[in-house]
Amino acid sequence: MHTKAYAAHNATSPLTPFEFDRREPTSYDVEFEILFCGVCHTDVHRVKDDWNSTKYPVVPGHEIVGRVTNIGDKVTKHKVGDVIGVGCLVNSCRTCEACKDGLQQYCENGNTGTYNSVDPIDGEITKGGYSQYGIAHEDFVLSIPENLNPAAAAPLLCAGITVYSPLKHWGVGPGMKVGVVGVGGLGHMAIKYAKALGAEVTAITTSESKASDARRYGADDLIISTNPKELDSHKSSLDFIISTIPVSHNIQPYIDLLRRDGTLVLVGVLSPVEGFNAKSLMTKRRSIAGSIIGGIQETQEMLNFSSKHNIEPEISLISIEMINDAFDHIQSKDLSHRYVIDLKESFK
Ligand SMILES: NC(=O)c1ccc[n+]([C@@H]2O[C@H](COP(=O)([O-])OP(=O)(O)OC[C@H]3O[C@@H](n4cnc5c(N)ncnc54)[C@H](OP(=O)(O)O)[C@@H]3O)[C@@H](O)[C@H]2O)c1
Ligand SMILES: [Zn+2]
Ligand SMILES: [Zn+2]
Repeated sequence: MHTKAYAAHNATSPLTPFEFDRREPTSYDVEFEILFCGVCHTDVHRVKDDWNSTKYPVVPGHEIVGRVTNIGDKVTKHKVGDVIGVGCLVNSCRTCEACKDGLQQYCENGNTGTYNSVDPIDGEITKGGYSQYGIAHEDFVLSIPENLNPAAAAPLLCAGITVYSPLKHWGVGPGMKVGVVGVGGLGHMAIKYAKALGAEVTAITTSESKASDARRYGADDLIISTNPKELDSHKSSLDFIISTIPVSHNIQPYIDLLRRDGTLVLVGVLSPVEGFNAKSLMTKRRSIAGSIIGGIQETQEMLNFSSKHNIEPEISLISIEMINDAFDHIQSKDLSHRYVIDLKESFK
């Protein structure tokens, strides 16, 4: 299937119009017209080759909502006309322990990313949702609940699941004090989910200007992390902290905010972080952990939870021509919500 798209051809040039052919569909494939795609900070890292593993030309986008246009003869989970979602994964080995446990994000044989991966079906580099049409195996296609706005549902497929999964894994609920570091795409969803799960939420931000947004998303308390006095007065006060900071940083101030038995989960930074004092873990039996997206079953659970509790991201709709400005704005860190690209409108 021939599709229009936007691609980056190297780490320093802007994204520009690009066209390519999607692979031939198999019996298990769902083909879809892409309606919306969220703009994740990972897309920025990937285009700029922050992790030295970008395969150019790269077509980013892994928060995809589309409408099914065609299905293979063995597809049973979706039908033509359905509004569907595709997140960060389009395949995995299905045989390793992680896959058998429904944790495709931890596939031991290497899962297939929605973009920048080698597609096991045709050997080509996968290309993401900054495009007109998509294709994926039905097992990796999610159902978007009817009451969710399709544009707002898009960021749930990465930002939503990335914070929902650890909140559930570490049993966040009533009686717990939760800190969310970084009020951006992931962080603003973490505030909403932690609140919906019954926790008391403290937003921890470097941007004083985001205070009112954080409160509107549900934060009960706020720490301006650039102010040492505010960090000091909240020492040993939180049971669980999720950090979405996208760059290498000193994690000690966040460890110090944990109570006894508290856990700091890193979901933002994918590079080495500065050293920390092991004693600060021992003296309060604190833990540091990490987490990456979520499995397919849990992603559907998160979509259904969002539908039931009316949880949607705050979004600004943009056209694909605005993508380079959106990247600049994300890097300036003053965005407290998510950009979503209206692809149907963009490629009309
Ligand atoms: N683990 C996973 O599965 C997974 C999934 C998706 C994304 N990610 C990663 O998560 C990170 C966040 O993604 P996002 O889309 O939420 O990004 P985002 O919208 O840019 O939000 C990140 C927030 O972190 C804070 N921040 C930014 N730079 C900072 C710095 N130098 N020091 C301290 N705080 C800083 C800012 O919040 P304040 O202004 O409030 O301080 C910013 O709004 C990215 O690195 C992305 O690659 C990981
Ligand atoms: Zn993402
Ligand atoms: Zn596997």
